[in-house]
Amino acid sequence: MGWSKPERLFHDYLERQAKGELALLVARAGAGYSGHCAVIWRSPYPGFRERNIPEIQDLNVRPAHRRRGIGSSLLAEAERRIARRSEYAGIGFGLYAEYGAAQRLYIKRGYVPDGRGVHYNGEPVSPGTRYPVDDGLVLYLLKRL
Ligand SMILES: CC(C)(COP(=O)(O)OP(=O)(O)OC[C@H]1O[C@@H](n2cnc3c(N)ncnc32)[C@H](O)[C@@H]1OP(=O)(O)O)[C@@H](O)C(=O)NCCC(=O)NCCS
Repeated sequence: MGWSKPERLFHDYLERQAKGELALLVARAGAGYSGHCAVIWRSPYPGFRERNIPEIQDLNVRPAHRRRGIGSSLLAEAERRIARRSEYAGIGFGLYAEYGAAQRLYIKRGYVPDGRGVHYNGEPVSPGTRYPVDDGLVLYLLKRL
């Protein structure tokens, strides 16, 4: 993936999918795996959960398969599934450069910030406080479907 994705993650996804907690979407190129994302029906982020807005998480496309529309196709399918249950889809991205492609992709697809500012590990950040710029620092966005 470029980023490590342990096999356990996919076992967990399948178990949670069997319980109806999420939908795991997998993109394939021929017989091979190209990428995936998960639609989490009850988001861990309070800003989405309180409004019953499902969250698209963990969108990843294998580095060699990028810029061929696979990420967009995964998002389109996730949005189709969410639209059956919700008027809005939610998504988040990290703030450092490795998330740069996702930042551009989501905004070009019509996702706009949810208006609650940046969060660190699910909590709103406080002005003047120091936080590490890591995967915990996230801006959440919404799209009206
Ligand atoms: C984000 C990611 C899923 C995009 O997948 P992808 O299959 O390459 O996306 P697409 O081919 O559908 O790209 C659609 C558009 O997004 C934008 N985009 C995608 N990658 C980009 C990049 N590296 N730089 C700038 N814009 C980019 C472009 O506008 C692109 O359209 P174009 O190719 O016609 O210019 C992929 O880059 C990835 O796996 N990144 C690492 C993991 C990650 O950050 N996941 C998101 C977690 S929030």
